[in-house]
Amino acid sequence: MSRHVVITGASSGIGAACARLFQQRGDRLSLGARREDRLQGVAGEAFRQALDVTKPPSVARFVTAAVAANGPIDILINNAGLARGIEKIAEGTGEAWREMIETNVLGLLEVTRLVLPHMVQNKRGHVVVIGSIAGHKAYVGGGVYCASKRALQPICEAMRMETLGTGIRVTSVDPGLVETEFSLVRFRGDQERATKVYHDTRPLTGDDIAECVLFAVDRPAHVNIDTIVVMPTDQASPQMVHRGGR
Ligand SMILES: NC(=O)c1ccc[n+]([C@@H]2O[C@H](COP(=O)([O-])OP(=O)(O)OC[C@H]3O[C@@H](n4cnc5c(N)ncnc54)[C@H](OP(=O)(O)O)[C@@H]3O)[C@@H](O)[C@H]2O)c1
Repeated sequence: MSRHVVITGASSGIGAACARLFQQRGDRLSLGARREDRLQGVAGEAFRQALDVTKPPSVARFVTAAVAANGPIDILINNAGLARGIEKIAEGTGEAWREMIETNVLGLLEVTRLVLPHMVQNKRGHVVVIGSIAGHKAYVGGGVYCASKRALQPICEAMRMETLGTGIRVTSVDPGLVETEFSLVRFRGDQERATKVYHDTRPLTGDDIAECVLFAVDRPAHVNIDTIVVMPTDQASPQMVHRGGR
């Protein structure tokens, strides 16, 4: 049966890969991100609208329009997120910290707050959160990004408690190194620096993560996958990556 899948941050990387995979499955898509032009190139038939998760009026407009276009929301993939810089705490800037917390934590909360009541009313729904291994293990220069991803764990736990008995499921998919525009954004457009992150190793792809999301949402209604932690075979922790082949 066709499901209504809402994906935030669908203009590139993991979000775009989820859109492609769910579309192949015949689901109805609502895609949001700030770069509307980039959204146009993702998946064929879909509802698309500019969305800035850090702006509550933009979130409200997006959720209302998505429900009007595609009906009740079955699956919300909270994917929009970013890291800004790799400065140590003593050298960081409030601007970068705010951007990460406002996008990764408050933005996710804002979208979820508007979608969840519909799901509770319909007694069905699946909230998927794209976390990170950064939420499980900190690393030098990643303090605030890691904190923003760690924060998603109690948010997911509380949501499971608060929706208990309603049939709603909550899953966190927490990837390691995935080759997307993530590093380009982190290093503010410095392509050379971004490329180095994936040099001489085999990272995951957005498609690998989309497969994990699909696995979780395709389980029978009585099965809730709590957390999927997924890393490349050549990664053992955020900053331990094997390079150079075997
Ligand atoms: N790549 C990795 O190694 C990795 C590992 C673990 C977790 N993650 C997580 O995976 C998620 C997706 O990242 P990605 O790797 O696919 O990177 P990406 O290619 O840079 O994609 C990030 C997406 O988030 C959107 N976004 C950013 N700020 C937004 C905002 N304020 N409002 C709406 N959309 C916003 C971007 O769209 P616009 O710029 O068009 O708004 C883009 O579509 C993030 O939550 C990230 O933290 C990534």
